Amino acid sequence: MKDFLAISDYSSEEVQDMLDLAVKLKKQYFKKGNKKIFKGKVLGMIFQKPSLRTRVSFDMAMRHCGGDALYLSPNEIGLGKRESIADVARVLSGYVQILMARTFDHAHVLELAQWAEVPVVNGLSDYNHPCQGMADALTIIEKFGAKSKGLNISYVGDANNVTVSLMHVSALLGWNMTVGSPEGYDMNPKAVEIAENIAKQTGSKLTFVRDVHEAVKGAHVIYTDTWTSMGQEEETAKRELVFPPYQVNAKLISEADDDVIVMHCLPAHRNHELTDDVADGEHSVIFQQAHNRLHAQKAILAQLLGMA
Ligand code: CP
Ligand code: NVA
Repeated sequence: MKDFLAISDYSSEEVQDMLDLAVKLKKQYFKKGNKKIFKGKVLGMIFQKPSLRTRVSFDMAMRHCGGDALYLSPNEIGLGKRESIADVARVLSGYVQILMARTFDHAHVLELAQWAEVPVVNGLSDYNHPCQGMADALTIIEKFGAKSKGLNISYVGDANNVTVSLMHVSALLGWNMTVGSPEGYDMNPKAVEIAENIAKQTGSKLTFVRDVHEAVKGAHVIYTDTWTSMGQEEETAKRELVFPPYQVNAKLISEADDDVIVMHCLPAHRNHELTDDVADGEHSVIFQQAHNRLHAQKAILAQLLGMA
């Protein structure tokens, strides 16, 4: 595989191998630092939207392994505006060894990958967020270890780009997933179809409900994300009226498994989709999850650069 655009492009085995590598690279990093496997390699990072975690964790992943990263802001590149995506892809392919792109339209990251001669990593689009999905899986495996087969993952709120990647990785790893979302905020039907095809092979059970209480019953993981994603800002007021019943709070988590963990990709809108007491409480793994972006991405980069 040349690129990392969607977790569903990979097999269960390939995803498991990348997660095993992430575990190895994380151990190596904390023990004596990473080997300089990216020496002489530069990652070009194209951002059409803001970022904290994706930008910094990719940059640090390259530096820890002896490589370098170059941040390219929306105004600098003018992707598809100042210059066509195909031309940007072909020009950058002569300067850097690998590209990461965060776009609004998923078609734009696909187009970049089509024209780039170097690997392209999807750093979030309106369709999915596969790097987040890998860090989420790493975190779930760290928390549940060998007991992770047959876990019940519940996602509540807006069934967005983060939900898509979480469902794809869950289906590939044989975890059950329930999505509790209000009408009009369901998961992308194409992504559901892909997930259902994977689930048929792995035995994972996928469920879609409206009732938030039903969604979290028996959950080992409760996951939520912002009610308004980047690019949807003009819908904020409307969404603030729809989503409050889906808030992850102490009452909701008391309805899940006793050892439930609470996840959020961040940035969190505290006391909207997730209350402060839960975000900072004993069930929350949100910072471990954020830190795992670094380790999961090292594995993705190593795999694409042929250093795995
Ligand atoms: N979770 C995540 O992708 O965060 P950023 O938007 O800050 O990169
Ligand atoms: N769903 C959010 C995720 C941010 C990391 C967004 O797309 O804005």
